[in-house]
Amino acid sequence: MNGMAPVITVDGPGGVGKGTLCQWLATQLGWRLLDSGALYRLTALAAQRRNLPLDDEPQVATIAAGLDVEFTAGESGILHIILDGEEVSTAIRRETAGNAASQVAALPQVRAALLQRQRDFRQFPGLIADGRDMGTVVFPDAELKLFLTADPGERARRRHNQLSEKNLSENKMNVSLAALEREIAVRDARDIHRTAAPLTPAADAKILDTTHLSIAQVCEWAAQHARLQWPIPTHQQD
Ligand code: DC
Repeated sequence: MNGMAPVITVDGPGGVGKGTLCQWLATQLGWRLLDSGALYRLTALAAQRRNLPLDDEPQVATIAAGLDVEFTAGESGILHIILDGEEVSTAIRRETAGNAASQVAALPQVRAALLQRQRDFRQFPGLIADGRDMGTVVFPDAELKLFLTADPGERARRRHNQLSEKNLSENKMNVSLAALEREIAVRDARDIHRTAAPLTPAADAKILDTTHLSIAQVCEWAAQHARLQWPIPTHQQD
């Protein structure tokens, strides 16, 4: 193509298995990984730490444009995210950070401020881009566009398991499944109905409903598409 590094975009709502799939693809191909949701989470966290209202569009966009963030791979491949010199890898994964991220992500100036930062991840040998608008807005010329969906109830169950496993509940009490389902519905509605880069598959995206599929099956589906252009071995489940 045009001398740019190749990109595979993986879009869809939270809890569909994008993160796991993207990490697997990045490892198989030896490509870089862009977790675009982390940039929105970091913007929200940085704004909250400066006591800015999350709907103050110009100020939050200024924060987004000037984010002082570092992504470093630690031992056994664990990614450390450093914001203003402080480790925030756990803080940004919390449910409150996700909700705050969804609010700032609805602001067009914030999205514009993060656009070039995301495109800068496109480097050889290639990029796996994880998000909501990777195939529609950030990398519309991507070589392969994947879009994952799953029933909201199943996504809430997966998210609930993740939060319990990683001990990311906001307080000692576990977040209830019903509360998570309500939060997911609110966040979906905001992400789908916003005017700036709403969550929607690109016209040329390959779409997969992962509700009843294992991670191995999702990886194999993606690999079948990717193998048409790049070499990927058959997925082996550990
Ligand atoms: O994927 P995630 O849960 O880390 O994303 C957090 C929020 O950021 C999500 O509610 C929507 C928003 N987001 C976005 O609007 N565009 C992206 N490319 C990635 C995330």
